[in-house]
Amino acid sequence: MVQPRLRLRNIAKRFENTIALRGVDLDVAEGEVVGLIGENGAGKSTLAKIIAGIHQPDTGQIIVEGTPRVIPTVRFAQSLGIAVVHQELNLVPHLSVESNILLGREPFRVPVLKFADNRALRREALRMLDTVGLDVHPGTPVNELSIAQQQRVEIAKALSLDARLLIMDEPTSSLAEAEAAALLDIIARLRSQGISVIYISHKLDEVRRISDRIVVFRDGEKVVEKAADEATEEQLVTAMVGRELATMFPDRDAQPGEIALTVEGLLAPGLVEPVSFSVRAGEVLGIAGLVGAGRTELLRGIFGAARRQAGSVVVEGHGDARSYPLAAIQAGIGFVPEDRKTEGLILQMSVRDNVALSVLRQLAGLIFRRQNRETRVADRFITRLNIQTSSREQRVGSLSGGNQQKTLLAKWLAIEPRVLLLDEPTRGIDVGAKHEVYRLIAEIAATGVAVVMVSSEMEEIIGLCDRTLVMNEGRLAGELARDDLSEESIMQLAAQHGESSD
Ligand SMILES: Nc1ncnc2c1ncn2[C@@H]1O[C@H](COP(=O)(O)OP(=O)(O)OP(=O)(O)O)[C@@H](O)[C@H]1O
Ligand SMILES: [Mg+2]
Repeated sequence: MVQPRLRLRNIAKRFENTIALRGVDLDVAEGEVVGLIGENGAGKSTLAKIIAGIHQPDTGQIIVEGTPRVIPTVRFAQSLGIAVVHQELNLVPHLSVESNILLGREPFRVPVLKFADNRALRREALRMLDTVGLDVHPGTPVNELSIAQQQRVEIAKALSLDARLLIMDEPTSSLAEAEAAALLDIIARLRSQGISVIYISHKLDEVRRISDRIVVFRDGEKVVEKAADEATEEQLVTAMVGRELATMFPDRDAQPGEIALTVEGLLAPGLVEPVSFSVRAGEVLGIAGLVGAGRTELLRGIFGAARRQAGSVVVEGHGDARSYPLAAIQAGIGFVPEDRKTEGLILQMSVRDNVALSVLRQLAGLIFRRQNRETRVADRFITRLNIQTSSREQRVGSLSGGNQQKTLLAKWLAIEPRVLLLDEPTRGIDVGAKHEVYRLIAEIAATGVAVVMVSSEMEEIIGLCDRTLVMNEGRLAGELARDDLSEESIMQLAAQHGESSD
């Protein structure tokens, strides 16, 4: 047999009082795609970071192409042909796309020739952008791109290293289905060139499609390892969560009440036509569409995170909410943003402070604190959402990705909104936690909150929403009642070109 590209033996890692990995063995062959799945906090990203030279294992051995290695830095990992697309975006916001892709590896042979080599820099950047199918100018600052575009820059950056082992940690979490499919094609192509891939994702259908072998982690241990074509989805879910999940979506007996939110003639950056719709108390309204269709922009416009150019937003009949977030919150609107890192959470702060220091006071800059109340609120949500944290004082930045997402939800639930806007609420969370979030959304709706949910996962739109608006190129392309919801009916509206038909 050929030498495995990577061989891990008995890798263990502990962070203070959390054991992230308990002695993991893993082999990855040349040209093999290994799917790595497991619950939030199971240790997947920790393993990726150990291979990438970000963390050092406490015990164990890393053997790269037959040679035992200590990997002290990311740079050294790169020199061994290892590249990682991280779960949390790691781009430098104000730098251009091309500088991000080639950061620290600019093709300057001789420093004096810097200027001449800018041409080479651009050529290389364009080549990588083409590979990931991203059509933006290489000089665009990264912070002007959508999250989905940034994710592709991140992928381009890893691919530009010409790695022999590529680790992708949730690379498609903010891509829509068509874009995710394109990425899977790229991976298949890399594989046929002999590149090895460790593919971490919560999207089991993707993992099953792309992988040769699937490995399941639970609580820092490898609990299952199987050829992909021998693993059924049920088996994998059961292995991940340690129990069977009967049904993914809660039974909802929606009895929508009075109109809770009325949006009339709304225009905001990213919308090309005024948008009008209303949502009833207790209703879950889905917003579907491709990435870039204006879904996030619509939510941001309602919340006043982006300046409204025209139109009104009325909650429970109380006059127009003014167009800035504090006014929206005071009117009873909560907004769980897509990008938890820059818009959602304060990573250096504890779970307690993120959840319980109410958003309202954070925005208003008030520092008056009621410790006991905050502790109670935080503990209630840690339990209710089953946030895995060593204590309420743990820094949010050191939680696993999925548990950060739950903390973000908790933070907005704590303000008890009347209207809750959710942008990709289950991004990056495991199937067990998804199940919990769906139950939670159903519960919130049942208490009379109007929920508006943007999602790229059609399954969850179909499984959860009472009604769905489909957006296409900055306008509303149509509305689908629960009984008419299907992947086909959504795609038909989402993908049609030109002016939407009436
Ligand atoms: N820097 C850190 N400091 C303290 N604890 C950490 C740190 N990094 C990870 N952990 C903890 O280690 C455990 C494993 O985290 P890891 O990020 O590897 O999970 P994961 O499997 O990638 O989860 P997810 O699916 O949510 O991304 C978690 O309990 C997490 O809180
Ligand atoms: Mg992770």
